[in-house]
Amino acid sequence: MGPLAATRLLRRPVTSLACDDDSLAVPQLRPLWIGSVRVDPPILQAPMAGYTNFAYRQIVRELGGAGLLATEMVNAKGFVWLAEHEAEQPDRLWGVAEEPRPLAVQMWDNDPETLAKVGWRLAHEYKVSVVDINFGCPVRDVVQKAHSGSYLLREPERMGRIIEKVVAACAPTPVTAKIRLGCAWDNVNAIDVAQAVEGAGAAALTVHGRTAADMFRGSADWERIAAVKPFLKTIPLIGNGDLDSAKKVVEAFRRYDVDGVMIARAALARPWLFQQAAAALRGEPVSPSPTLAEERELLLHHFQLICQRFGDAKGTLLMRKYACCYAQGRAGAREFRSRIVRSQSPAEYLAIVADHFPRDASSV
Ligand SMILES: Cc1cc2nc3c(=O)[nH]c(=O)nc-3n(C[C@H](O)[C@H](O)[C@H](O)COP(=O)(O)O)c2cc1C
Repeated sequence: MGPLAATRLLRRPVTSLACDDDSLAVPQLRPLWIGSVRVDPPILQAPMAGYTNFAYRQIVRELGGAGLLATEMVNAKGFVWLAEHEAEQPDRLWGVAEEPRPLAVQMWDNDPETLAKVGWRLAHEYKVSVVDINFGCPVRDVVQKAHSGSYLLREPERMGRIIEKVVAACAPTPVTAKIRLGCAWDNVNAIDVAQAVEGAGAAALTVHGRTAADMFRGSADWERIAAVKPFLKTIPLIGNGDLDSAKKVVEAFRRYDVDGVMIARAALARPWLFQQAAAALRGEPVSPSPTLAEERELLLHHFQLICQRFGDAKGTLLMRKYACCYAQGRAGAREFRSRIVRSQSPAEYLAIVADHFPRDASSV
């Protein structure tokens, strides 16, 4: 399926908001600017390591509704090492040089010089729209071994020094920070961190409403996300966590004083969610989710994009996890998953997709 077919996906007759979602008053939105970058609609696609590569971003872009797309987090030290050894760019920068803007690239490390060096290249050579720094990753290798990601939340001043360096290196490209509420519930310091981030010259702050210790347990605390807002002087606040429907996106804007929202996991299963949420925010009816036949086209298109880059064998292995995401919530998902995770070749992949996502457009 090509881009045109993908954009056709959500142009079927629409049902009213009341069908997919309960009726909602549409909130008044402020325009979201990250530095000189207008993010319209103010719905951001979150960075997700292992998932938000060029193929996924292309799918999201074709379906529409995300005002800013983001890469996976890039290891800044690794990037510098590759450059010094005249090796290829990191795999995670696949597509970045050429793809449409606006685009944010996220990087992680704890060394201001290294981050500034990589930030400079991203801003001035790759000409990305936004350079984002990861201060939220709770994964052991990043936190305990590399003292990066959410490890840095315990040291807001050090975060400030990092951001200052990166801002100076990237100017005029805006630099943003993505954080969690704190390292743990007995150390929630998002407000102190937010002030350090703004004071150092960042252009926006994204807050995931969990602590690092939570990993993904429990629910995102939107009250605590919104509690940061009064402490920011001018930069926008982007809220993140557990948004999995157009209704929840509208609710987030209605109930909480955020300038933008960011969606991660739900949009792996339903990349059309951005488009649905954007329509709901405009007060327009929300398109129904794609039929099985339309999802099949999407699965094939996504597979094609992955295989063009990685070849058939590796492409099939990589596509398994995306296919499992797409199947979430569908009848027969468990059987589909157990079959697709064993697929070894495009022929096997295509046969399994054909069985579970039949071409008959009447099936939903
Ligand atoms: C598989 C996976 C990979 C992630 N990778 C990143 C990452 O590279 N950088 C980052 O800032 N957050 C990362 N996150 C966190 C998400 O961006 C987001 O903050 C979190 O999932 C909460 O949003 P959600 O409830 O919409 O999923 C990742 C999350 C998942 C599930």
